[in-house]
Amino acid sequence: MRVLMKPMVILFACTLTMAACSHKGNTPAPATTSAGNNGNNNGGNNGGGNTTVDTGICFTRDILPIFVSNCAIPGCHDAVTRSEGFQFTDYNSIVAKEFVAGNADATELYQKITEDNSDKIMPPPPNSPLTPAQIALIRRWINEGAKNTTNCGSPCDTNKFTYAADIQPIFDKYCKGCHSGASAQKGIMLDTYAGASATANGGRLLGAIRHEAGFVAMPYGSNKLTDCDIRKIEKWVSAGAQNN
Ligand code: HEC
Repeated sequence: MRVLMKPMVILFACTLTMAACSHKGNTPAPATTSAGNNGNNNGGNNGGGNTTVDTGICFTRDILPIFVSNCAIPGCHDAVTRSEGFQFTDYNSIVAKEFVAGNADATELYQKITEDNSDKIMPPPPNSPLTPAQIALIRRWINEGAKNTTNCGSPCDTNKFTYAADIQPIFDKYCKGCHSGASAQKGIMLDTYAGASATANGGRLLGAIRHEAGFVAMPYGSNKLTDCDIRKIEKWVSAGAQNN
């Protein structure tokens, strides 16, 4: 029963705030495009090596995880529920509705994540609002033209797998929105060492991130983590899931 209640609470919270998703009339502000940087300076190598230093925002690396982990929650803006017709599971769905590339202020989802009124802000309580850093990234991404950049060439070294420096940041980025606080899915907490190590030791973590049969694939409703991130988590678990 406890397990069943959680999705219901979330569904209720989302239903309550459905009106908040509706279009509230346009108050377009002047576009603040940042001339000179088209955000597309991403290099071309996604091979996991240390070959590229990129300076632009990369959609799959920097933006998509924010939406998946905070908005594409079951009962809200996942592919099944599509609350108020908004779905935030991949590039095409994110830019599909009330979205003005080049103008964050005229974009509905940006208005919602920066809403002053606590009855209307997205994500709705009990979920946490986005952080100022996440909001600033989304603003910059939209104002720079909302590019679908995928080859991010993020330097990744599978020999680095300490909990604090390497593992928790992966959970923060890809999992925390659904696995923290009062609304944590299945009671699985991935925002603290206690929760993360309990999940690892419980034996459901690796199967879920490797998308193995018999597990629910994580991150829920989204692409797999990169091979490099999966490898780091595997190494951390097999070394005893330490608090290092
Ligand atoms: C969009 C929300 C969302 C995100 C993001 C998410 N999860 Fe989940 N997670 C869920 C839901 C919902 C369930 C319960 C699924 C079910 O049992 O049907 C779940 C269940 C799990 C389970 C249990 C799976 C099983 O088969 O027993 C693990 C482990 C897990 N999540 C880990 C993670 C990890 C690690 C990440 C990040 C890499 C992550 N989750 C990201 C929503 C999410």
